[in-house]
Amino acid sequence: MSSNSFGKLLTVTTFGESHGPAIGCVVDGCPPGLAIEASEFAPDLQRRATGKSRYTSQRREADEVEILSGVYEGVTTGTPIALLIRNTDARSKDYAEIARTFRPGHADYTYWHKYGVRDPRGGGRSSARETTMRVAAAVIAKKWLAEHHGIRVRGHLSALGELTPRAFDWDAVEDNPFFWPDAAMVAELEQYITALRKSGDSVGARIDVVAEGVPPGWGEPIYGKLDAELAAALMSINAVKGVEIGDGFAAVAQKGSEHRDELTADGFTSNHAGGILGGISSGQDVRASIVLKPTSSILIPGRSLDVDGEPTEVVTKGRHDPCVGIRATPIAEAMVALVLMDQALRHRAQCGDVGAMTPRIA
Ligand SMILES: Cc1cc2nc3c(=O)[nH]c(=O)nc-3n(C[C@H](O)[C@H](O)[C@H](O)COP(=O)(O)O)c2cc1C
Repeated sequence: MSSNSFGKLLTVTTFGESHGPAIGCVVDGCPPGLAIEASEFAPDLQRRATGKSRYTSQRREADEVEILSGVYEGVTTGTPIALLIRNTDARSKDYAEIARTFRPGHADYTYWHKYGVRDPRGGGRSSARETTMRVAAAVIAKKWLAEHHGIRVRGHLSALGELTPRAFDWDAVEDNPFFWPDAAMVAELEQYITALRKSGDSVGARIDVVAEGVPPGWGEPIYGKLDAELAAALMSINAVKGVEIGDGFAAVAQKGSEHRDELTADGFTSNHAGGILGGISSGQDVRASIVLKPTSSILIPGRSLDVDGEPTEVVTKGRHDPCVGIRATPIAEAMVALVLMDQALRHRAQCGDVGAMTPRIA
């Protein structure tokens, strides 16, 4: 299977299946000299982890990173960085039934038609278990972006089903299992998810990601536009059905006089564009949002077909995850960070000698 790599100067290749012995990635192109050690991967992996809270999946993985190469005495050497995480909670069971059935909303039917063979254990390669390695790879990117450019990439849930935050505080985001910026609403969210779980159904979610400190100039027109690469990277996350840059689809109802971000000596007057103009960062915050679809594996039976085309019924047994979007904030941050680091290296390679033409807008 091809297309397991992305990026141009910073390339990330992931490998592994949901229920295989391990998952891993190779990060190639990271400059030498970045101090990194295995323990630094834990915080972001725990933020993404299954079993982090009772509102998400029950799978409990240790998610311990082994650095196999590319780091010597705690410093990157410029050679490929290989990271490995062993799957420790991939319970073996009988997959004969699942292997013959296409779960609605999953990649079973399409993988089967494309490859003629599939690993049915937990969704195999199509499982969101793969996104663990994106989060791991992005620990490197986040650190490099922070150290070299003072950039901070962070995200939060901005809608859970029909609920939206009534207040906003970044400090609240990491204090609750929903990555929710309104602490006063957390109890309401808990009740909402508990009721949803009891009903056996699921809902979608929206996540906003902001990268602060990105300098003007990153992004390569025409086919390597920063917004285009962010959209592709974010859309590659499991269950993502929509990506917006800046105001995104809200722009349809805006006037030009409102949407264009005027330039003044005191700075841009607004940031409807999401910090990207002509595919190049403007120096404003880079803002992107994603929408994740409702969990497909739910307790409510769904109609499907088996590999012989015979009608069958699919129902998820045990505990289901009523909203997969709850855990996707670190994954969205990861994709934004990896795209930004790749673009930073590409900008340095082609335009590193170009000095500032005018003073930067504050
Ligand atoms: C963090 C995360 C966890 C997920 N966990 C589940 C899950 O427990 N059950 C499920 O039905 N889908 C889950 N998904 C979504 C499926 O992986 C995805 O819908 C499926 O592979 C089909 O791909 P597509 O929705 O991108 O077309 C998860 C997605 C993410 C981002």
